[in-house]
Amino acid sequence: MNILAIETSCDETAVSVISSKNDVLSVQSNIVSSQVELHAKWGGVVPNLAAREHTKNILPVLSEALGDAKKTHKDIDLIAVTQGPGLIPALLIGTNAAKSLAYAWQKPLLGLHHIEGHIYANWIDQSKNKQFPILALVVSGGHTQLVLMKEHCHYEIIGQTQDDAVGEAFDKAARLLRLPYPGGPAISAAAEKYEKRISKKENEATDNPNKLSPNAYDLKLPRPMLHSGDYNFSFSGIKTAVLYTVRKYEKEHNLTTKDPLPENFVQVVALEFQNAVTEVLIKKTLRAAQEYGAQTILLAGGVSANIQLRDELATAIRTEMPAVTFSVPPFEYCLDNAAMIAAAASFRWNKMTDTQKKEVNNGWLTVLADSNLKMTSL
Ligand code: KG4
Ligand code: ZN
Repeated sequence: MNILAIETSCDETAVSVISSKNDVLSVQSNIVSSQVELHAKWGGVVPNLAAREHTKNILPVLSEALGDAKKTHKDIDLIAVTQGPGLIPALLIGTNAAKSLAYAWQKPLLGLHHIEGHIYANWIDQSKNKQFPILALVVSGGHTQLVLMKEHCHYEIIGQTQDDAVGEAFDKAARLLRLPYPGGPAISAAAEKYEKRISKKENEATDNPNKLSPNAYDLKLPRPMLHSGDYNFSFSGIKTAVLYTVRKYEKEHNLTTKDPLPENFVQVVALEFQNAVTEVLIKKTLRAAQEYGAQTILLAGGVSANIQLRDELATAIRTEMPAVTFSVPPFEYCLDNAAMIAAAASFRWNKMTDTQKKEVNNGWLTVLADSNLKMTSL
């Protein structure tokens, strides 16, 4: 079957066409129109601006996605759309477009949870055999969760952040370090630069007076809830510790809160921030995988694009739990996109009973955008 999916929950207007046969997926097109530059000026996503851009972009992106896939509406068997969670003005553009198409083309319409999409981005590349139980570490701008899946489309949240999501903490820490929005890639790039400088040959000489240390500025950020005995997380404390570190530095160097910070300082804090976040995420994920007997660990959500997290989680699993399979989506499917929504729709549709499928035929009438949508099992 051919699935056309629409995603507009935040600041990307995305449409994709995938074909699916017995849950073997093949992406026919995947168009993402990003609004990052527009929102960067404001240091974060402005919901009404996002909605205005989605309105402008949705039809051209739809047309491009169908064109790239060499399909017309006659070839589409199912329409899928992100129903929530997300910014309501943004979600409304995608759901209303999807409802209009479903009505006009007389197609079934399935509303999907955004995080279910991120999880199923892992099935776009099917080279790895993912056995249940599966433990998904979901790390995005709005979510940080450990989700246990005993079968397809069945979700049990065994732990989650008690305050900021990881991506949100990256974005806030970046802002404190005067790095541009979105903060995740900016922190990651700064941390990587410092790591490269530390590992350079000249830095290895012990008599080098300018030797760089990973612990420069005596910086040690906290690892919150590492030993909490549950699988919950907290990231606002790390962000506050970054704030205190920056304020202390400004005071010691007579800087105002607007003055630029030296590159070296920014890189050291970025690296330690990333180390702290990565350590907590990996240790808790491995502990949970052990307790729940996971056969597969998945990484999902925008922060899964972080190379340090991808690499260190892969290494930790290989050395500590070699029997466990590790899966992470290809880079192009880590950040928000519509192929992941189509992938989730395929698995959900194939698991539905005939009665449930009949209800989807009325999707144009029943699918409603919901900014706080809860992920439901099938
Ligand atoms: O999943 P996503 O695209 O949108 C939401 O569903 O929220 O995730 C966006 C988040 C942002 O907070 C962004 O800073 C973060 O993912 N992010 C990263 C990286 N790339 C994006 N965080 C760390 N390292 C990255 N390379
Ligand atoms: Zn997302």
